[in-house]
Amino acid sequence: MPKDIIIALDFSSSKETFDFLSQFKSLHPFVKIGMELFYAEGPEMVRRLKREGYKVFLDLKLHDIPNTVKKTMKVLAQHGVDICNVHAAGTNAMMSAALEGLKEGCAGQQLPKLIAVTQLTSTSEDVLQKELLIPYSMEDTVKHYALNAKEAGLAGVVCSPLEVTKIKSACGNDFITVTPGIRFENAASDDQTRITTPARARELGTDYIVVGRPITQADSPLMAYMKCCRDFFGAENYCM
Ligand code: C5P
Repeated sequence: MPKDIIIALDFSSSKETFDFLSQFKSLHPFVKIGMELFYAEGPEMVRRLKREGYKVFLDLKLHDIPNTVKKTMKVLAQHGVDICNVHAAGTNAMMSAALEGLKEGCAGQQLPKLIAVTQLTSTSEDVLQKELLIPYSMEDTVKHYALNAKEAGLAGVVCSPLEVTKIKSACGNDFITVTPGIRFENAASDDQTRITTPARARELGTDYIVVGRPITQADSPLMAYMKCCRDFFGAENYCM
């Protein structure tokens, strides 16, 4: 299974994004485009990053009726991204429809990995139960959503690294886990609640970690990325 670090490009303009990326020179890290950047700059942002050789996770977290999601995925498929996603809460019918749309839109090209958000890493178990009225533990809820995603034919899920072990044992080791909620030791958690360090995420067996502010807001984003690489890949495998 490939393992990688995905930098969340949570910026509001193409200039800010490419100024940031210029610090990484030829490293070309795996990057994530979320709603902020996509709504600001549109699909040209995705096309430009792909042209420049970046792997792209398009994190738009679709959640709508199956027909709308299917047709939207068909359009998004044309941008040639590597990973894209929906919310598992949209139901199995919606996830299956998303996959159908993606396959239709790809028309024989490499199919992006379609994954589902289980529960946002900013949501705590307390909020899950008291505000969203889901009367189960976070672990059981996330595992159940992961099984739904697998049944719908998806490649994996977005979850917290803390839930990876349960998901892998329920859905199999080939079922991909993409995990935000990453913070260096003793750093601020910001709005995230289900967090851990890159090193612990590695021990827990996740496939991809998604890291935003710990890199984008660091005094030296390049040094922060390199520290992340050392911690996540392990010093013995780190040869940047
Ligand atoms: O800055 P930080 O490392 O918290 O950024 C995490 C990124 O991962 C953000 O872009 C956020 O939208 C995204 N994300 C998340 N939790 C999810 C899914 C996506 O934090 N469940």
